[in-house]
Amino acid sequence: MNERFVTPLNLREDNEIEFSLRPKRLKEYIGQRKVKEKLDIFIKAAQGRGEALDHVLLYGPPGLGKTTLANIIAEEMGGNLKITSGPAIERAGDLAAILTTLNDFDVLFIDEIHRLNRAVEEILYPAMEDYALDIVIGKGAAAKSIRLDLPKFTLIGATTRVGMLTAPLRDRFGVLCPMEFYEEEELREIIVRSSGILNVEIEEKAALELARSSRGTPRIANRILKRVRDYCQVKGDGIIDSKSSIEALRLFEIDKEGFDSIDNKILNAIIDNFNGGPVGVETLAYFIGEELDTIQDVYEPYLMQKGFIIRTPRGRVATDKAYKHFKKNRNSNIEIEQCSINIEEC
Ligand code: ADE
Repeated sequence: MNERFVTPLNLREDNEIEFSLRPKRLKEYIGQRKVKEKLDIFIKAAQGRGEALDHVLLYGPPGLGKTTLANIIAEEMGGNLKITSGPAIERAGDLAAILTTLNDFDVLFIDEIHRLNRAVEEILYPAMEDYALDIVIGKGAAAKSIRLDLPKFTLIGATTRVGMLTAPLRDRFGVLCPMEFYEEEELREIIVRSSGILNVEIEEKAALELARSSRGTPRIANRILKRVRDYCQVKGDGIIDSKSSIEALRLFEIDKEGFDSIDNKILNAIIDNFNGGPVGVETLAYFIGEELDTIQDVYEPYLMQKGFIIRTPRGRVATDKAYKHFKKNRNSNIEIEQCSINIEEC
């Protein structure tokens, strides 16, 4: 269970929680200060001119609230939100069908937009630039291109891999929003807000405890909150206090850094098997038996942000902080505690 517990990827159980806990307006949204400030200005400016908001690209690790922001933007613009994803749009015709059902000020959210195929992407260019759909009818010499007008919509693209977007697609987004991991204090606020909506009492200190273990990710914070609520309901009086949150986190095998067994596997492999690095991410993925994409999109960004690994041109390197976390010595890989006992014995 614990391997999946702190995944920032969307689990089926999250949909129901995320829907009820999701802020509906920009002013209710906690964190991502810079993104919020930018969107607030651009939304008001577009509304003032009676235009659609320019196309928005949200990028960063999973679980940070990209879909939530898309919902908020649609709400603020007074349009409907249509959600799809790069891999779900297989042919140009699929995208054309979606685009022709939109109305003015609607928002089209394409998750994993880096996974759109080329033919589909080319339909997007005139749609984004001129609100137009170019359709080719006929074949060979008789082929003719006709242009259909599209409503004034906003495309919101979301990606965990902004580097994989082609330059022509990236350049057509007017608003670029890098999403960052949340601060502990922001996650604490989100947890307190969510507890209120779930009608469960939580002590300040317990909220901070849960925030600390949430990997800078609201989706994980809300998932942990729900499970700790269950724990306190069964083992205690239903109130989430510090003692029972610590007990629950221990039971779920989540440590105070929010690490689970895969983080531990990654760090220990670099330290023990690759002498602290550098080691290529492909080698690392193969060695620990995890998907390369999962390591790159999910685990690495958090471990890097927390300063446990660094990325160098020759591969990933474990930092002193990682050695210290596991009480290991950089040269010998012998546990520091054990080492000091030996020295004393000598
Ligand atoms: N729930 C999930 N993400 C949130 C956020 N950024 N602000 C408020 N509540 C949230």
